[in-house]
Amino acid sequence: MSDLKIHIRRATQADLPFLVAAGKKETETIGFLPTAALREYISKRNVLIAVGATPASPVGFLLWRLSHGRRQAHPSLPTGRHVKIIQLCVLPRFRRQNIGTRLVQQLAQIASRRRAEFLSAWVAEDIDAVAFWERLGMDSPWARIGGSRRQRFHLFFCAPLSEGRGLDLNLDKATEAVTP
Ligand SMILES: CC(C)(COP(=O)(O)OP(=O)(O)OC[C@H]1O[C@@H](n2cnc3c(N)ncnc32)[C@H](O)[C@@H]1OP(=O)(O)O)[C@@H](O)C(=O)NCCC(=O)NCCS
Repeated sequence: MSDLKIHIRRATQADLPFLVAAGKKETETIGFLPTAALREYISKRNVLIAVGATPASPVGFLLWRLSHGRRQAHPSLPTGRHVKIIQLCVLPRFRRQNIGTRLVQQLAQIASRRRAEFLSAWVAEDIDAVAFWERLGMDSPWARIGGSRRQRFHLFFCAPLSEGRGLDLNLDKATEAVTP
């Protein structure tokens, strides 16, 4: 499908109803975050929103946080300063138009400006989005059982960032600028 015209900006508290409504329909894939947590991510400027041109309404979001380093839980895992993708979601009718890819690319640029060494995301192994992360060229060197109730496997996806450029992956279509 061809790319939809969108722009990407930081979320404001006015986007909260969109985040709550979109997230509610995707708890199987992105998990659940309470409204108070969403508010906090917004106030820390850690949420990107993709906005469609006509009408100018939100069509997707990406929520992230910076980590200053992680324990080396497995020898193949990187440990340095990195950005974790906490939630990524594109509304169903806008999928497969490169919006998810562009959100990740924007985050990669922000992350590399903040001197993060890599991007990471935990992804349940039984959802369609696994193909999305693989398509971006991210590695998944590790998996673990996430959550005691369902015993579902989660894959750890990660990709190194290059200084000033973001990700050197299959992201060449992703060139939108983030508006402040
Ligand atoms: C995963 C998600 C964010 C992808 O967003 P998107 O805007 O549709 O992704 P893109 O259009 O940028 O996809 C890029 C490529 O990834 C792959 N891909 C994306 N979604 C896919 C799917 N459902 N099945 C197989 N491959 C997929 C394709 O190769 C696609 O390129 P193509 O359309 O040219 O074949 C979106 O499907 C979504 O919100 N899903 C529900 C929530 C979710 O699972 N979030 C991720 C949790 S870790």
